[in-house]
Amino acid sequence: MGEKIRIGLIGAGNICQNAHIPAYLKQEDVELVAVCDINEKRANEVKEKYGMRYAFTDFHDLVNLPDVDAVSVCTWNNSHAAATIAALKAGKHVLCEKPMAMNPEEAEAMIKAAEDSKRILQIGFVNRFKAESKLLKEFAEKGRFGDIYFAKATYERRRGTPTGWFTNRSKSGGGPVIDIGVHIIDLTWYLMGRPRPVSVTAAVYDRIGDYSTKGVSRWHAFDPDDAFDTEDSACAFIRFENGACMQVSVSWALNNKESMNSEIFGSKAGASLSPFVIYDEQENYLVNSTPVVDKEDPFYNEIKEFITCIREGKAPTATGQDGFQIQRILNGIYQSAKLGREVVL
Ligand SMILES: NC(=O)c1ccc[n+]([C@@H]2O[C@H](COP(=O)([O-])OP(=O)(O)OC[C@H]3O[C@@H](n4cnc5c(N)ncnc54)[C@H](O)[C@@H]3O)[C@@H](O)[C@H]2O)c1
Repeated sequence: MGEKIRIGLIGAGNICQNAHIPAYLKQEDVELVAVCDINEKRANEVKEKYGMRYAFTDFHDLVNLPDVDAVSVCTWNNSHAAATIAALKAGKHVLCEKPMAMNPEEAEAMIKAAEDSKRILQIGFVNRFKAESKLLKEFAEKGRFGDIYFAKATYERRRGTPTGWFTNRSKSGGGPVIDIGVHIIDLTWYLMGRPRPVSVTAAVYDRIGDYSTKGVSRWHAFDPDDAFDTEDSACAFIRFENGACMQVSVSWALNNKESMNSEIFGSKAGASLSPFVIYDEQENYLVNSTPVVDKEDPFYNEIKEFITCIREGKAPTATGQDGFQIQRILNGIYQSAKLGREVVL
């Protein structure tokens, strides 16, 4: 590997152009070398805009370039596994966007490819890289909350259904559970100390579906028109091997207020991310306190960690194994909802 880490980008849509590229450009000694998108025009535009050397429509061409060290996988969810495995087999390090894959089997194959190639596989669990999340994780690891035995993961949008491939199950693998539930379930699970999930009971709904509500904006995929065959909300209850439980509520569309929150409840103290409060006792009084931290750019932090791990041969915070455990939970939610009963993972 030369002095600069040479990056290839697979999938040149929204998250690639608006989050990964800007975050790479802010790092030291990183060079954007190649881009790939099945949309040739998009790939060429991104290549020209950022002065990259190559643009492709097939990710195999990109991963086989000798002058690429690492790739970001920013495609629709249905090609995360194929692109990641191809890149790892070609000896590249991979930062794969969330969700890791469409199902646990794909996630396992990705882990095996990373182990075989001895390359870094980092999953894009970007919410772990917010300043508030990092502080709560530090407090949890220092035992400030005691034994964390219950948690709530909430990501409820009132009318926030993305357009395009997100609602096409064959491309996304599912609706808000796999799109935004993945973020809040992962973050909450991470703060809980990553206990092993053992069972899930869940329900999913599609009662609002596509809508024409006026006055609200939506996350637009680069190609906005597609099928709509996913759920629009879900609730779940997850049990872990250590006896802890997590209650989950996620929606793209729900007749409720908007909320994105991780809450953890321990034997000594509890915490909520939004509002950012620690629920404590001092001198025998109940105390609510808010630690003070500057806002940070989580994508910058995530990509900085990816580059640092490559340079120093360190394991990332968000590993393939983490992605796999989260994928087991997501899969369990869909399975339980389908069967109408609790499923053992
Ligand atoms: N971390 C976050 O907060 C966050 C936010 C949004 C999206 N994402 C994730 O990023 C990924 C992309 O989402 P997006 O919003 O950028 O979607 P998008 O539709 O805007 O972009 C995806 C791009 O991938 C391309 N593509 C699809 N299959 C491909 C393949 N096999 N090879 C090459 N290119 C391919 C599409 O043509 C498109 O240009 C998804 O996995 C999504 O879950 C993460």
